[in-house]
Amino acid sequence: MLKHKTIVITGLTGQVGKPVAEALARDNDVIGLARFSNPSLREQLEAAGVNCVVADLGSGEFSETPRNPDYVLHFAVAKTSSFEDDLKANAEGTGLLMDHCQSATAFLHCSSTAVYQPNNHHPFAEEDPLGDNHRVPMMESFMPTYSICKIASESSARLMARLLELPTVIARLNVPYGHSGGWPLMHLEMILADQPVHVHSNSPSVYNPIHDDDILRQIPKLLNVASVPAITLNWAGKETVSIEEWSEFLAGLVGKEAKIESTPDVLQSVITNNSRMHSLVGETEVSWQDGMRRMVEHYHPELLS
Ligand SMILES: NC(=O)c1ccc[n+]([C@@H]2O[C@H](COP(=O)([O-])OP(=O)(O)OC[C@H]3O[C@@H](n4cnc5c(N)ncnc54)[C@H](OP(=O)(O)O)[C@@H]3O)[C@@H](O)[C@H]2O)c1
Repeated sequence: MLKHKTIVITGLTGQVGKPVAEALARDNDVIGLARFSNPSLREQLEAAGVNCVVADLGSGEFSETPRNPDYVLHFAVAKTSSFEDDLKANAEGTGLLMDHCQSATAFLHCSSTAVYQPNNHHPFAEEDPLGDNHRVPMMESFMPTYSICKIASESSARLMARLLELPTVIARLNVPYGHSGGWPLMHLEMILADQPVHVHSNSPSVYNPIHDDDILRQIPKLLNVASVPAITLNWAGKETVSIEEWSEFLAGLVGKEAKIESTPDVLQSVITNNSRMHSLVGETEVSWQDGMRRMVEHYHPELLS
């Protein structure tokens, strides 16, 4: 684990960044950047020892952020549905932040496996074709810019790594979950509300979920492999599991039945080939059943059977 470092973290009010910022603030000087649209999250982060700085990535105004931190963990993602605003905050913002923190030892840019062009049940490796994974009716209504912005942001990160000679790692996250929620928690809430869990008609809908604990554990290892030019790798759990399987498992834990409904309107499977990740930073350790059981224990301890 990182100790006695100065670490800039963006997106620290989000699902992935918050537990990371809180954990790292125990032994490091953590400077967290966000707009803090939810003020109560700022209070929680400050109570955990994070030095909170208001910053909008698109503005490029980072005067209160150190120029020479040891590390930058860039988790922020703008999803306003406006291509102009989201490209500015995500793609341009990534470049502007790297420029500001160019004396850092390493920069971690969190990307997504949503950058891959859907291809049935093919396990995606880093060189596979990219595409607009989120161009499906159920995602278009609220995250139309997502895949395109994630691809554009990766390009910004690659460009700036070369221009600034800033060692950079681009980590394409699959399905994060755990104490900070995530997609499996949304499915659990649907099951509890007797709502259907939608899966793709090209079934099963398979992913490589990754638990919060593994995300935190792998951050120092990812920073260690940052390089110029930037290195890109998948960041995913070692087990493949379908939404159908985890929904039935979660339903079993709380004594309910999962109502699975197939439709072509939702995301297709995103399975990852983790060879590069495993050779560079190792495998994840939390099994999906253990991680999801702990997630239920955290959110609904009274329902665990
Ligand atoms: N969650 C997933 O299922 C998933 C899957 C794969 C990859 N990822 C990747 O993981 C990373 C973290 O995702 P997440 O789910 O934790 O995100 P999230 O919960 O949606 O949070 C987004 C974060 O970005 C900040 N943000 C948004 N617009 C901003 C702006 N203009 N300026 C500064 N900060 C801004 C938000 O803070 P304020 O609103 O307070 O500014 C918040 O902290 C992202 O790179 C995402 O693409 C997530």
